[in-house]
Amino acid sequence: MRLSQFAQRLKPSETLAISTRAKTLRAQGRDILDFGLGEPDFLTPPHIIRAAERAMAAGYTKYTPPSGLPELRAAIAEKLKRENQLDYRPEQIIVSCGAKHALYNLAMVLVDPGDEVLIPGPCWVTYPAQVAMAGGTPVIIPTRAEEDFKVSGALLRRYLTPRTKGLILNSPCNPTGTVYTPEELEDLARVLLDTSLFVISDEIYEHIIYDGLKQVSLATLHPALKERCVVVNGFSKSYAMTGWRLGYCAGPQAVIEACGRLQSQTTSNPTAFAQVAAIEALTGPQDSVRRMAEEFERRRNFVIPRLNAIDGLFCNLPRGAFYAFPRVEGLFGRRYQGKPLQNSTDVVAFLLDEAGVALVPGEGFGDSRHLRLSYAASMAELEEGLRRIEQAIARLE
Ligand SMILES: Cc1ncc(COP(=O)(O)O)c(C=O)c1O
Repeated sequence: MRLSQFAQRLKPSETLAISTRAKTLRAQGRDILDFGLGEPDFLTPPHIIRAAERAMAAGYTKYTPPSGLPELRAAIAEKLKRENQLDYRPEQIIVSCGAKHALYNLAMVLVDPGDEVLIPGPCWVTYPAQVAMAGGTPVIIPTRAEEDFKVSGALLRRYLTPRTKGLILNSPCNPTGTVYTPEELEDLARVLLDTSLFVISDEIYEHIIYDGLKQVSLATLHPALKERCVVVNGFSKSYAMTGWRLGYCAGPQAVIEACGRLQSQTTSNPTAFAQVAAIEALTGPQDSVRRMAEEFERRRNFVIPRLNAIDGLFCNLPRGAFYAFPRVEGLFGRRYQGKPLQNSTDVVAFLLDEAGVALVPGEGFGDSRHLRLSYAASMAELEEGLRRIEQAIARLE
């Protein structure tokens, strides 16, 4: 049987691939510390779990409307107003099976074959993959650590062509931890206002943000921009609900309705009782969100100086999300088992073998000079992991 051309083009997610390899090694009895996956190491807060249990008992075990429960869409509208100063009607909001699913729907309803979609890089592996699945061309705008991995308005303008259809912005950013300030967003907005581009603003890490910064949505800056902007968010990161598979987006009604039609023909609604629990997540106590963010900040403050103290590594200070993205180029040319390390994939393979530490090569994010370390792990694991990384690197020839 021959697979479709679409299936033949599909690549597995690089971040999941490394985690699978780490699990295999662990199953073979190796002591592996996994800093590969972008998943909070906290449990879902108990009050959210209890809400799901109550919902199941109350009969929320059947189909809901394909775009989500009206009560949840209303609760999301309230949240966007309260926390993000964004005014959306519930009809402008759709609940999907994770933010990843929301983004996939958007790629399918916004991108035509031949369209170019701009993505500041390094970027989350899934954006270019999804644009390509829709037949579009992902165009990565390269950014540098020295500029805090940020795209300026001037740089954005240089990448505009007659085929440019949209921009995907992610702040706080996976993998770099970059957070755009309101002034930097305004600089981008000035350029965007001269175009008719759609903008997807992925704000999934909004609550995991440090140094007293606050996440600002590009959609708040200009009414004309909001008309072309879709805000993507979800429950995975803020509420440690990765396995519940719930995300959403808010935007122009025509776009949201198109996503709804697509969803009605593909997944139908996200799990009913998970949606009820999501209402509790948004309307119940928020102290666990703050506690998790504080804990991530404490770990960041530990991890980054330790990485920077290792000869050959350099790491920017992430201002949000839970990833360190050190440059490991300084190790290239040094030898492991007689062979020189040539790129980030080599460094990751070396650290997995030699230190028993699973990381993600930068290649997946479009940058072979860096790797990603997720510090969504306990302090004890991070201390042990960094000790092992230091010692393994010191042994390189
Ligand atoms: C930048 C970014 N957006 C979206 C997602 C997807 O989150 P989910 O599908 O779990 O809601 C992730 C998950 O790693 C992410 O890093």
